[in-house]
Amino acid sequence: NNYLIIMAGGIGSRFWPMSTPETPKQFLDILGTGQTMIQQTIKRLQGIVPIENVFIVTSKNYKSIINEQLPEVKDEQILLEPCMRNTAPCIAYATYKIYKRNPQANIVVAPSDHLITDETEFRRVVNKGLEFVTSNDVLLTLGIAPHRPETGYGYIHAIPGNDTFRKVEAFKEKPNREKAEEYLAEGNYFWNAGIFLWSAASIMKAFQQHLPAVAGIFKAGTDKYFTAGEQTFIDEEFPKCENISIDYGIMEHADNIYVLPADFGWSDLGTWGSLWEKRTRDEKGNSVVGSEVQLYDCTNNIVTVADNRKVVLQGLDDYIVTEANGVFMVCKKSEEQRIKEFQKNC
Ligand code: GDD
Ligand code: MG
Repeated sequence: NNYLIIMAGGIGSRFWPMSTPETPKQFLDILGTGQTMIQQTIKRLQGIVPIENVFIVTSKNYKSIINEQLPEVKDEQILLEPCMRNTAPCIAYATYKIYKRNPQANIVVAPSDHLITDETEFRRVVNKGLEFVTSNDVLLTLGIAPHRPETGYGYIHAIPGNDTFRKVEAFKEKPNREKAEEYLAEGNYFWNAGIFLWSAASIMKAFQQHLPAVAGIFKAGTDKYFTAGEQTFIDEEFPKCENISIDYGIMEHADNIYVLPADFGWSDLGTWGSLWEKRTRDEKGNSVVGSEVQLYDCTNNIVTVADNRKVVLQGLDDYIVTEANGVFMVCKKSEEQRIKEFQKNC
């Protein structure tokens, strides 16, 4: 009864120019492991979710990349959005489809672009979580112990206690810096890993309660799912959905949220800076991909260029140096939030 929904429609704009709207982060082998992020996402759930129960929700533009990278996934398992409406409609579409196939389904919802280093622990946590949601009408989040006042994450405020599954007092999506610092100081807060576990029935109930218009659209399509009429229905109706994330749309409002604290080497690899933290570095803190790069008096840089590219760097400290997709970029790590602006002007 276990199903997996992979959210794979994001455009990964903070990793430009390596990640582009044509080939975003989830379809790249960002860490040089030999596998793209989405391939790793499926692999780490092997043995928990059978491959025929995996549904990938993505933009129409990425269908051919998915066919190429995941030949084991059939076309009927790739759900194609005609436009981006953020994660709530993405999850609702897949959920209503899964429910039609199996009303007893339990669902793992996972982003397609995260790093998890301890896969054994990850699988243990997911199995435990699936057991819990089978017998409880709850929305289960996986909580990561926070270690910096990050403003790009959701914060889960757990009721104090020692239970394995902790009831959540409140879910706060992307707080400002001041709030994030408060949460960190207070304790009992976790980062939302962006991985959710629930039964199809529980999340459908939550959609009906908190995003009834979105729920209504997909409920109306039920008789078309798994038929030739499905795509036509989606092309017409999907754009009518509210543009909202699951975090703002449901998690901030539901009162049956639980958190399972987890520690499996999670990183959302959201930025060049976080990639630098995860990649192997030399004794001077430089992380280099590219076989012909020469460094002199350089410290703490992240360099990513093609193997045949001869690059010489001298006296550089704390920079991103990359050449990809026809763009050469040198940017101070601490200024990387401006990358979206650079991309716009390119
Ligand atoms: N199909 C589809 N359609 N997928 C989407 C869409 C969409 O319109 N928008 C985003 N995604 C995919 C992304 O590719 C990614 O894998 C996942 O959904 C999450 O979207 P992000 O845009 O990366 O969300 P976020 O990082 O800002 O925030 C979420 O993740 C954080 C952890 O990384 C939230 O859940 C936060 O609460 C959480 O802390
Ligand atoms: Mg993200």
